[in-house]
Amino acid sequence: MSPNPPLFASDRRSSSSHSEERAAAEDTALLGNQRKDNSSPQQKSRFWREIGLFAWALIATAAVIVLAVYSQHQGSSGDGKKTSPKGKKNLIFMVSDGMGPASLSMTRSFRQFQSGLPIDDVLVLDQHFIGSSRTRSSNSLVTDSAAGATAFSCGMKSYNGAISKLPDHSSCGTVLEAAKRAGYMTGLVVTTSITDATPACFASHVDTRAEEDLIAQQEVGEHPLGRMVDLIFGGGRCHFLPNTTSESCRGDGRDITKLAREKYGWNYIDNRKDFDGIRSGSAVKLPLLGLFARYNFPYELDRRNMNDIYPSLDEMARTALNALEAATQDSDKGFFLMIEGSRIDHAGHGNDPAAQVNEVLAYDKAFASVLEFLDRSKTESVLVSTSDHETGGLSIARQLDPTYPEYLWYPEVLNNVSSTAEHSARRLASYVAAGSKNVESFIRKELVKKGLGIKDATDAEIKTIIAAPNSYSFASMISRRAQIGWSTHGHSAVDVNIYGTAGSERLNGNHENTEVGKFLRDYLDLNVDAITKELNEKEKAKSASTEETIRPLVEMHSMPDGIDDEL
Ligand SMILES: *[C@@H]1O[C@H](CO)[C@@H](O)[C@H](O)[C@H]1NC(C)=O
Ligand SMILES: *[C@@H]1O[C@H](CO)[C@@H](O)[C@H](O)[C@H]1NC(C)=O
Ligand SMILES: [Zn+2]
Repeated sequence: MSPNPPLFASDRRSSSSHSEERAAAEDTALLGNQRKDNSSPQQKSRFWREIGLFAWALIATAAVIVLAVYSQHQGSSGDGKKTSPKGKKNLIFMVSDGMGPASLSMTRSFRQFQSGLPIDDVLVLDQHFIGSSRTRSSNSLVTDSAAGATAFSCGMKSYNGAISKLPDHSSCGTVLEAAKRAGYMTGLVVTTSITDATPACFASHVDTRAEEDLIAQQEVGEHPLGRMVDLIFGGGRCHFLPNTTSESCRGDGRDITKLAREKYGWNYIDNRKDFDGIRSGSAVKLPLLGLFARYNFPYELDRRNMNDIYPSLDEMARTALNALEAATQDSDKGFFLMIEGSRIDHAGHGNDPAAQVNEVLAYDKAFASVLEFLDRSKTESVLVSTSDHETGGLSIARQLDPTYPEYLWYPEVLNNVSSTAEHSARRLASYVAAGSKNVESFIRKELVKKGLGIKDATDAEIKTIIAAPNSYSFASMISRRAQIGWSTHGHSAVDVNIYGTAGSERLNGNHENTEVGKFLRDYLDLNVDAITKELNEKEKAKSASTEETIRPLVEMHSMPDGIDDEL
């Protein structure tokens, strides 16, 4: 991987709309003063004095109008080099689920080791660092992804598990819904289930994140406000398929792909070949629903060997940008796109550092592609990237011995891993399920030596895997050898980083996560409160007219290796 050129775009920063507006305001104030000076008593005839005053008032008024119009146009057209309609904007919001500051340090050093880069080589993300975000939810110092994403989508704190619902269980309008209503195109791109908490928070409203069947319905258009999303790329196909099919994880027999196609006009694709077919971008017909995995996409470390089945995050991000740009070509409004590096979080839950560095690198690559898009786009655009929380309590050092610790960690260990702990545990489960013999030798040679790149496995470690054949047993072997520490299989409360391009200066420094959400709506000049009001009115009318049907909570799917989706 070659280092990507930095894209500081400081020219755009220096001509920020704020300074132009201030300059205009100062000019107006000066004119006002001049007007006062001009009317100072001179011993001229009363007639000429009044004519003069009238003329001056006329000129001053005209000047104020001209300046106001000028400053408004300057405020919305960025650096002025671009030629898109005035006020047209694109907003790309990226979420690195579960990526804390330590993930960056680990990935940066890993990449330097892997590619023989100098010690001052940094990630593309590093070059766009602007601030940090405080992540607690309304009911816990440690947030989950649902409350975290609600802070971004609604700009409000809520309880863990809330999908764009407030602590009183009323719905809050989201930036995506308000953008759609205002005429923007909207998109969601993820590498986990599209019904998972982060994407769900932008386009649905449910009390708890486990209601994924209902989230799927709302995302395609069975939503109080109708269809809100124009493009979806992700996994989680099982929640869209009827329980009569083998791939389904729905609690009922409804076919949501059929509902999407027939009632809401979606084009539906579910495989790599069809994804390649729309790659050109401009040929894409929206709305487009692309569900390329039954649950999650494989981790990038494993996916690269299954490239013929699953597109990468970067490929999906670039395709989505092209498609949304083409679809808004003749519009005076741009688009809102949310792109999530969903599985950085899962690698944290699994305490697998080798899986995580490759997830972060995949995210960094997608981030770089968005920067390239911004650079060539004629439309004023901003990219903001942040995390909902940190996962794993990751520490880039680990004391393995009671004696004073060594000051080092070993990226080489991560570089020798060619198969994630999750994939290793699945291969083991399949091997055992097939009734194959010599399980111990399979673990030692195929999974640990070849897959993890570990040649010095102890008998005790192999015994641990046999006793507990889950991903943690494999991941622990990697982490200990690399001297990488973890404090939890869950989330932590550490502040997470914010990255942004010119135009996102308001997020410089340390912020509450809700301020990130407020920035998103303000950047696109959206009236999210009107959406909240409408949602509340529709829901009130509905609950008054129909008896609330109690829906059974859909069971959370358990990963075969025992790692549940985050709770
Ligand atoms: C499938 O869903 C229907 C309701 O739509 C339900 O009656 C049935 O029991 C479900 N079947 C299975 C196998 O879960
Ligand atoms: C990584 O793999 C290389 C090549 O097989 C080997 O020489 C090296 O010792 C391994 N490093 C570690 C830390 O296991
Ligand atoms: Zn999580």
